[in-house]
Amino acid sequence: MQLFLDTTDVAVLKSLAATGLVDGVTTNPSLIAKSGRPMLEVIAEICAVIDGPVSAEVAAMDVAGMLAEGRKLAAVAPNVVVKVPLTRDGLMATAEFCAEGIQTNVTLCFSAAQALLAAKAGATYVSPFIGRLDDHGAVGMDLITEIRAIYDNYDFDTEILAASIRTPAHVTEAALSGADCATIPPEVFEALFKHPLTEKGLQQFMADWAKTGQSIL
Ligand code: E4P
Repeated sequence: MQLFLDTTDVAVLKSLAATGLVDGVTTNPSLIAKSGRPMLEVIAEICAVIDGPVSAEVAAMDVAGMLAEGRKLAAVAPNVVVKVPLTRDGLMATAEFCAEGIQTNVTLCFSAAQALLAAKAGATYVSPFIGRLDDHGAVGMDLITEIRAIYDNYDFDTEILAASIRTPAHVTEAALSGADCATIPPEVFEALFKHPLTEKGLQQFMADWAKTGQSIL
């Protein structure tokens, strides 16, 4: 399973990328706004840190605008993935990007039927938003299971990118449900390393080790 970081904070990205565990990055207009920086500059910087896929989202709502913006974003670096919304225009743009060899991430997916259309349009990734579905009273993870079954039934190549991840449990459940990737906010990524029993066990081991008076080196 590929683990992406959902961030525009380059310092935080660099710190987590140093672990070798970050396979890619996703951004969205809200994260660009949070960065307070010019989008093209941030995307270029992220692409210089990470070799894997870096999603950069179009802001246009119509096909022509999405194509113009997407081509400009794709020219920033070879690992840019153009992120388009799951709308009728977004899927038309996706099909054209696919024909041009530009990778796409179809975002704001909230139903299996939408995911089916994204795959038929030739999306490289589809992003089902787990946390936002949970917030809406649904069981977000069920959507991953449904999309996995549909994509496997028809051998679609589109990768399922579990998005709107809020907890480490979301990451585990997405992996169990067959998501190809998950995009994770930095604070949740940090939490993945931790377990209270790991910390407790380590404290005990270190206390016992100190009692031996030994040194390995
Ligand atoms: C994914 O591509 C989105 O940027 C992100 O996962 C959305 O998460 P949120 O619902 O926490 O804003």
